Amino acid sequence: MRCRPHVTLHKKYANGVFGANSPCGSFAPVGVTLYQLIKRIRFEQVTIHVAGIHIVPPVLLAPMAGITDLPFRKLVARFGAGLVVSEMIASQEMVQARRGTREKAELDGGAGLSAVQLAGRDPYWIAEAARMAEAMGARLIDINMGCPAKKVVGGLSGSALMREPDHALRLIEAVVGAVSVPVTLKTRLGWDANSLNAAVLAHRAQQAGVRMVTVHGRTRCQFYKGRADWSAIAPVVRMLDVPVVANGDVVTPRDARTALAQSGAAGVMIGRGAQGRPWQPALVAAALYGTPAPVVPRGAALADLVMAHHAGMLEFYGRDLGQRVARKHLGWYMDHAATPPALRREVLTAPDPATVHRLLPLALAERERFAA
Ligand SMILES: Cc1cc2nc3c(=O)[nH]c(=O)nc-3n(C[C@H](O)[C@H](O)[C@H](O)COP(=O)(O)O)c2cc1C
Repeated sequence: MRCRPHVTLHKKYANGVFGANSPCGSFAPVGVTLYQLIKRIRFEQVTIHVAGIHIVPPVLLAPMAGITDLPFRKLVARFGAGLVVSEMIASQEMVQARRGTREKAELDGGAGLSAVQLAGRDPYWIAEAARMAEAMGARLIDINMGCPAKKVVGGLSGSALMREPDHALRLIEAVVGAVSVPVTLKTRLGWDANSLNAAVLAHRAQQAGVRMVTVHGRTRCQFYKGRADWSAIAPVVRMLDVPVVANGDVVTPRDARTALAQSGAAGVMIGRGAQGRPWQPALVAAALYGTPAPVVPRGAALADLVMAHHAGMLEFYGRDLGQRVARKHLGWYMDHAATPPALRREVLTAPDPATVHRLLPLALAERERFAA
């Protein structure tokens, strides 16, 4: 069989069947070179390069406050996301060691390639927090300019910074100057439909040293309403040399394909689609890029996974806080497993971890309406 790398191989690769067993692999001696070329193409196709850091596959877990803690990031990373991002951390609170703040930035070897996301308004505090996160092992520092929450915007950070690009730039410069790891930015399209300034802001951020930009395809004023507009991310992609990641409403491989096609982005970031489905980024990556497909747990295997996740949260937060934090994750797992409402309530109001673990196998048993 003849190989025509630029056409045929790419197509095979996109179908996820292109690997070491490809007929091209038997092409010796030319085949060796070809095989290396193919491997190179494959690596480039499944990688976002960020200043010497390789994000493979280009499917990322979004930062989500109260959700992407260390136990969840570890789980998602283990399934195979290219990068996991901590929940947003208030810079000043982190530096001043306010209770429960530094824990949000916690990393360990099991969390794969990890970014810590910082929020703030004061260049001094955000730079100090960035230094601290780098010292704790963050491989990238992400700056939050997308959070729409009133509490955050009221303090003039998060997406409020999109209305003050000069000040936003001062923050970016402070962080870039403070750390040696790459600094990335997460924004929305703009404050509202009349101020879609993501491309201009991102371009200035790139000039200031930002190495990757994620854009949630909504404005701040949309909060989470309507649908993310992936094509509105395209101008940002066109304007920048650094990689741009598309975010918003990406759940399935089909969503991801459409988001990439409409935006031209280098990768996708998945948030809510991973709630109760920590394998979803890996599942999307496998469909798009032919990376190893996760085994999606069902029935007893799912109950085992959820019990381990639950136990991890109790260990991380301590028993009482862990029980409370775990509830939303348990709820999402049970939503996808179509747990009957009465049993769901019983799990969520269980007085102790032992009861939760006793109920989970039944609550997560395979049912007809199992949504993977
Ligand atoms: C509960 C929740 C918490 C979030 N927390 C953060 C955050 O801390 N930092 C941030 O940049 N975005 C945060 N986001 C926004 C997500 O990162 C993401 O941009 C948004 O949910 C759209 O992606 P999705 O449709 O894949 O969820 C949060 C979203 C949700 C739903």
